[in-house]
Amino acid sequence: MAELVCFNPACRTRFAITEVVYNCPRCGALIEAAYDFAVEPAALKKCFRERRMSNAPLDQSGVWRYRELFPFLDDFSSVVTLREGNTPLLESRPAAEYGGLESVVFKHQGFNPTGSFKDNGMTCGVAQARRLGMRRVACVSTGNTSASMAAYAAAGGLEALIFLPHGNISFGKLAQALEYGARTLEVEANFDQILALVRALAERLGIYVLNSVNPFRIEGQKSIVFEMLDQRDWRAPDWIVLPGGNLGNTSAFGKALREAHEIGLIDRLPRLAVIQAEGAAPFFDFVEHGGEFHAVENPETLATAIRIGDPVSWPKALHEVRTTRGVVEKVSEQEIADAKAQIGRAGIGCEPASAATLAGIRKLTGRGVIDRAAEVVAVLTGNLLKDPDYIYRYHTGKLETPSGAPLRSTFANRPTVVPNDPERIAELLKK
Ligand code: F0G
Repeated sequence: MAELVCFNPACRTRFAITEVVYNCPRCGALIEAAYDFAVEPAALKKCFRERRMSNAPLDQSGVWRYRELFPFLDDFSSVVTLREGNTPLLESRPAAEYGGLESVVFKHQGFNPTGSFKDNGMTCGVAQARRLGMRRVACVSTGNTSASMAAYAAAGGLEALIFLPHGNISFGKLAQALEYGARTLEVEANFDQILALVRALAERLGIYVLNSVNPFRIEGQKSIVFEMLDQRDWRAPDWIVLPGGNLGNTSAFGKALREAHEIGLIDRLPRLAVIQAEGAAPFFDFVEHGGEFHAVENPETLATAIRIGDPVSWPKALHEVRTTRGVVEKVSEQEIADAKAQIGRAGIGCEPASAATLAGIRKLTGRGVIDRAAEVVAVLTGNLLKDPDYIYRYHTGKLETPSGAPLRSTFANRPTVVPNDPERIAELLKK
């Protein structure tokens, strides 16, 4: 019923679902999970809804609640759940106005147990690792994958080995990896270079890789889309907007939408809009200009979560963007910073990479690509508290681009230092 298949349409080599394979040994392409779905959409929707009233751990998980849509396990004894998913849809009028829309809804993945969307995928990746009897799991990360993997490995009794680009991840994320007990190596190289290193080492040392080249991570991240559709009573929006880094999430969203459509859970495909940071936008360049895919050698952005120059999942992401008649946009550091402040002002808040969504929406409505009246769901990928240093700098006028150019604190909210004097404070607050 479930198997692994080479993603290359000219190859499509098949592997057992229990094989450890990230790239096709024949052609080198990525691998995906494939199923013969034998499900009835109306019954399934009812079942998903009823599970929200259940106290069973699997049903309480906003990932495993949708388990019929990624049936890669024979039984669920290997599952580790921290009740991931269950993230809200939040509407905001001011954010919609800023983005040039009549309305916008944020699917806020920052409400996850470790504060990012990675938990949706990690619960599946770790379940597969345990099912295979793996003892050690590893990843390279710009911070969120490592925080998530560290937590799920710890909860599941696995040893976690984490590789980070030294000096280029936010302190909050590094702190999570340490607190969850992961063995943490800070490598003096960038994300793309370390990913190659990890994959070579993993083969040598028999370590299970939990980056998004792992097809089971992608299976879990599909649940972000399933839960969003369930929350909308299975009414597909016009657009789903998300930030693009390594492009695993774009791949997962497209696969989820195609499968939901094939099964009959939705009657049309929303369009994907993938937003990259200007200094790390190889996928934008490729889709915009065509030709060969060229990696960005020295990617730079303050949105360190998406500081990736050579995204491994670009072939999958390209397929999903094309299938959904999607678009790819890029945004500047200034645009990200100001959009982020607007999301904060709306009482919602997110980390810098997530704010690329609203910045991208503003640009795409400005260009007339997204219609003002469109129904738009923007996915906020990480929690506000992931990167407080960035926030403090923005609001105190100290934020600079990676090359040292000052950024405008357009919506600054500076703290004021006051003496311990009620008269002076009262005077100040009268203004
Ligand atoms: N937003 C956040 C907050 C992220 O942490 C990431 C990726 C992305 C967006 C981009 O998602 O890679 O699927 O296109 N973070 C990875 C990490 C790379 O290591 O935590 P993507």
